[in-house]
Amino acid sequence: MIRKCLFPAAGYGTRFLPATKATPKEMLPVLTKPLIQYGVEEALEAGLDTMAIVTGRGKRAIEDHFDISYELEHQIKGTSKEHYLTEIRDVITKCTFSYTRQVEMKGLGHAILTGETLIGKESFAVILADDLCDNDSEAGGVLSQMIKVYNKYKCSIVAIEEVHKKDTNKYGVIDGEEIENGVFRVSDMVEKPDPENAPTNMAIIGRYILTQDIFDILKDTKPGKSGEVQITDALLEQAKQGNVVACKFKGKRFDCGSIDGFVEATNYFYNREYNE
Ligand code: G1P
Repeated sequence: MIRKCLFPAAGYGTRFLPATKATPKEMLPVLTKPLIQYGVEEALEAGLDTMAIVTGRGKRAIEDHFDISYELEHQIKGTSKEHYLTEIRDVITKCTFSYTRQVEMKGLGHAILTGETLIGKESFAVILADDLCDNDSEAGGVLSQMIKVYNKYKCSIVAIEEVHKKDTNKYGVIDGEEIENGVFRVSDMVEKPDPENAPTNMAIIGRYILTQDIFDILKDTKPGKSGEVQITDALLEQAKQGNVVACKFKGKRFDCGSIDGFVEATNYFYNREYNE
């Protein structure tokens, strides 16, 4: 059973400067809710209750967000504004949070390896909070769709989406054989290939389920694209043994690591929350 969800959250968020100068990018709000809270709610919806967050310098606001603010509680209790805190109180009571710091920024693979101390020896999920996903009304959240696939195949799972061929250089890209509708046994994966070198247009989005052997593989993974330790390269080692499955998810994803995606997500959630 998957219980733990790892959130790599040490990155600088340079594309959102100056907003991210003193505020973690994971705390940028879409409407009134920070990105990372959407991620935690997705994990909770999938049945996970142990959140493990890899932070870095300047990220203390994340810890404060998932904690009680006594002063605020005192001020707001019994007033008409109390309902604003309902969702976050709910999250805080339903799950636990633990934190560790990534001291040097050496890539997503390195960030995940830093989280080993919080995960231990079990399979776990990973959410990259700047990929904001909205539930499919029937299939549920992306992570819960992936857990169903994990329960069947018992290996590492990545979520994929078809992207424009010109955009393959923004993603890890997979190749593989379709073993059931929308589910692929991965045979190859490449980190951010130029369109002419991309095996397909099936891009990995920021959701993973990883089996515990990934940590030992990461320890031996050399820096790859951009001189960083890439999770895609470590997963390729598992894929060579037939141990990675990719699933096309149902639902919507917004790349909130880009201004365009962030604005798109804001409009989408605004229309859903306030205009219906
Ligand atoms: C990371 C991964 C990439 C994946 C992407 C999903 O890249 O390295 O393989 O496709 O997340 O968002 P980043 O967006 O951190 O550059």
